[in-house]
Amino acid sequence: MSKDFETRFIWHNGSFVPWQEAKVHVMTNALHYGTGVFEGIRAYWNSKQLYIFRLQDHINRFFNSIKIYNFGIDFSKEQISEGIKETLRKNELRTDVYIRPLAIKGYGPIGLDVRKLKTDVFIIAMPYGKYFEKEGIEVLVSSWRRISSQTLPVLAKVTGHYSNSVLAKLDALNKGYDDAILLNEEGKVCEGTGENIMMVKDGIIYTPPISAGILDGITRRSIMEFAPDLGLKVVEKDIDRGELYTADELFFVGTAAEITPILKVDGRPIGDGKVGPISKKLKDYFALITQGKVDKYLKWLEAVW
Ligand SMILES: Cc1ncc(COP(=O)(O)O)c(C=O)c1O
Repeated sequence: MSKDFETRFIWHNGSFVPWQEAKVHVMTNALHYGTGVFEGIRAYWNSKQLYIFRLQDHINRFFNSIKIYNFGIDFSKEQISEGIKETLRKNELRTDVYIRPLAIKGYGPIGLDVRKLKTDVFIIAMPYGKYFEKEGIEVLVSSWRRISSQTLPVLAKVTGHYSNSVLAKLDALNKGYDDAILLNEEGKVCEGTGENIMMVKDGIIYTPPISAGILDGITRRSIMEFAPDLGLKVVEKDIDRGELYTADELFFVGTAAEITPILKVDGRPIGDGKVGPISKKLKDYFALITQGKVDKYLKWLEAVW
């Protein structure tokens, strides 16, 4: 396994520890029961400045996830935001970066009563390129359904929830696909394993609503806000599986995936099976925004250096 994701320091409960020493005990509750909350944030290097994309929105979601599970945390939003910036500086990162804040229920006796357990917080930052190596991907509709909000609070980004994503992802990879689309328990299109989804039909962009049981993605919200600048409209609506096959364009959106065109679903080419013009327009504009080249969206960027 390549080690090029390693950096020098990891932030742990307010102090820096060398990468190799950021360890937990095997009796850490989160290892047993999935009691961890996390975020995935990108920072973009434009050869002069490192910009963190929508840091405050990610911090808000991180704290909301903690609140939903009632885990508690000994740090304020300001301390975590500062911790993230310090981690990037301490590691002298001047490249595209992925940032992973992680708050886990820590060391303690076996059992589900986590009330007395400390919430251990880590901030990890690593150089990061593309999530998907290809320009466009092939996916299947998973036989696994997306966990419903009646089972788990899907708006929270919690480690335990991701066993659902891992099952769907591994199934897709083992069958030769790049990723999976999950339907919700009503059979409507929900999202990818770690991405939201958007569909283009007759020039309009459609995306499943929050009520479909999706994660409230920050990339999805960003696209909904900037699409009108390109003369495009995003409409939230429930999407049937069959609509995917006859879409003009389809793409995943998310922090890791950014905007990734989907060229085939269940072996059927989407549109003409090539990257579509609207996907390309959005991708190009998003790249300008994250590089700090669109004044209107400098509000989404936090400078590190
Ligand atoms: C299940 C799931 N859906 C959607 C997303 C996209 O959210 P965001 O754009 O905030 O990264 C993610 C990634 O965080 C995810 O894990």
